[in-house]
Amino acid sequence: MRLDFFTLFPQWFEWFESQRHVHNAVAAGSELRYLDLRATTPLSAGQVDDSPYGGGAGMVMRVDVIDAALQAAYGDARGGRRIVLLTPSGRMFDDGLATELAAEPELSLICGRYEGVDERVRDHLVTDAVSIGRYVLAGGELAAMVVADAVLRKLPGSLGHADSALEESYSSALDGDPEYPHYTRPPTYRGWEIPEVLVSGDHARVRDWRRARSRERGGPREDRA
Ligand code: ADE
Repeated sequence: MRLDFFTLFPQWFEWFESQRHVHNAVAAGSELRYLDLRATTPLSAGQVDDSPYGGGAGMVMRVDVIDAALQAAYGDARGGRRIVLLTPSGRMFDDGLATELAAEPELSLICGRYEGVDERVRDHLVTDAVSIGRYVLAGGELAAMVVADAVLRKLPGSLGHADSALEESYSSALDGDPEYPHYTRPPTYRGWEIPEVLVSGDHARVRDWRRARSRERGGPREDRA
């Protein structure tokens, strides 16, 4: 995957890139770039934002700044590239969307800052607007890292165990439910026991137990009886 982050703070991503699974994804052929919106702004003195029409507090990121950054990176040849704006008012990010984005050969994540981003970015320049939750962060950088983390760990070669991303929380293998509980040694700690079924050696019972715990955690859902 070719993954581009558009941000005012490219240096924040040094930590992100140092994570093992991100490192592994890069070693397996993915290419990550961090594009500084100030480097391509058409405005003087590195300006990227302006006061909102209609008044109100805070500053708004300008459409010409985002457009110039996309032009500098891709010209008019955007092809089928998925370009995602991170915003609290976007489509809610979940495992299904992570799987969908992981199938894209080319993905761009645009990190908004300040009070918001000129709506014409959403209307004309991006293909998706995505939120990581119903709360407001100071900017899209952490949201972009969350999205990229969840997407990259789905790529082949990113995790140590090829199977570990298959049967995990919210995956289709678990019918969209959260993951079942895990235990490891010691079998008893301060009197806290592990479930007996896990050391029974009976794989079918283990599977049934895990599925039941996973469903329990998922709680009542409209789509099941
Ligand atoms: N930018 C600020 N808050 C955000 C959120 N909750 N999701 C995505 N981008 C954001």
